[in-house]
Amino acid sequence: MKSYHATAGGGLASLVLREHAIPEPGPRELLVRVHANSLNARELSVLRGTYPLPVKQDVVMCSDGAGVVVAIGTGATHAKVGDRVAACMFPRWRDGRIELESAPQLGGSLDGMLSEYVVLHEDSVVQVPAHLTLEEAATLPCAAVTAWNALTGARPLQAGDDVLILGSGGLSIFALQLAKAFGARVIVATSSEARAQRLQALGADEVINYRANPTWAGRVRELTAGRGVDQVIDVAGATLEQSMRATALDGLVNFVGRASKEARTVGIDALFSSATTVRVVFAGHRRHFLDMNRALVANAIRPVIDRTFSFEESAEAFRYFESGQAFGKVVIRHAAL
Ligand SMILES: NC(=O)c1ccc[n+]([C@@H]2O[C@H](COP(=O)([O-])OP(=O)(O)OC[C@H]3O[C@@H](n4cnc5c(N)ncnc54)[C@H](OP(=O)(O)O)[C@@H]3O)[C@@H](O)[C@H]2O)c1
Repeated sequence: MKSYHATAGGGLASLVLREHAIPEPGPRELLVRVHANSLNARELSVLRGTYPLPVKQDVVMCSDGAGVVVAIGTGATHAKVGDRVAACMFPRWRDGRIELESAPQLGGSLDGMLSEYVVLHEDSVVQVPAHLTLEEAATLPCAAVTAWNALTGARPLQAGDDVLILGSGGLSIFALQLAKAFGARVIVATSSEARAQRLQALGADEVINYRANPTWAGRVRELTAGRGVDQVIDVAGATLEQSMRATALDGLVNFVGRASKEARTVGIDALFSSATTVRVVFAGHRRHFLDMNRALVANAIRPVIDRTFSFEESAEAFRYFESGQAFGKVVIRHAAL
């Protein structure tokens, strides 16, 4: 079998395809034939050497993947041969708060999913919802689960809440789809008219152009009759002060990522006067994944895939994802055996 390895900080030039014997599942483990992967900003961070969590030497890349169980180890009862499963990016984080023992991560301190076969513990996967393809399921473990944790993990969203979502990357589109399923009114801030139209087609109630209007918090207040939004999903980081100014009193800013390349400063005055809670969102655990999958099924939500590459085109997929052109997820599909 083949796996793509890379060196933390080694850039895309360090991505190499290595051959291995197909591993055998141990007690309570599953051997999974991977059918698809998806890319996230974390993969680029690993390649740049800026990933905040430990990365093992010569790591097999990618946290995200989905496939079919082809063999089970002794005592495994939670899955059977033929099941379609997606991996949890933190295999040991099943529920509750993240602890040091549950922090090992696929494609980080553990080998990841960009491999033809992987061995996973039976409690570190979830069954793929029946309405999703394996390519669609491969988009869920990082971006969708984090969006779900942001929207439900601290202050569960309620019907009628106003939500502001920054950006139209993989995570933000999941946040939009899920927030609409909760019955929220969703405002999205994006960088172009073309993206604005696609966001409206996906259900965004209002769209703001954050490039044309860098002090967009005022516009968010206008759109909410002066009150501000109940929750913000902030993937950009440099925008935190605007996010706080756009939030209702005692509202919540979910600080999810630092996608913006602009200078990062936090407005202490804005934080104090808005009485906002800023919560740094740390991905999500298996319980989040299971709960989110129920919401995907009940609301017939399908991930938005921008483009699919073959396993052999993995380096090209990374380059395309890095270009920032994608609207939705970038997927790598393995050839059928
Ligand atoms: N905390 C966690 O556990 C966790 C988990 C997953 C991801 N993340 C982080 O979350 C961020 C988004 O992830 P992703 O997978 O969605 O990445 P992505 O697909 O690369 O999308 C990034 C998006 O950020 C938006 N953006 C950049 N600068 C912005 C600004 N100044 N204002 C508003 N939006 C801005 C862009 O939106 P437009 O194209 O619409 O302009 C872009 O599409 C990344 O930084 C990632 O590292 C964190």
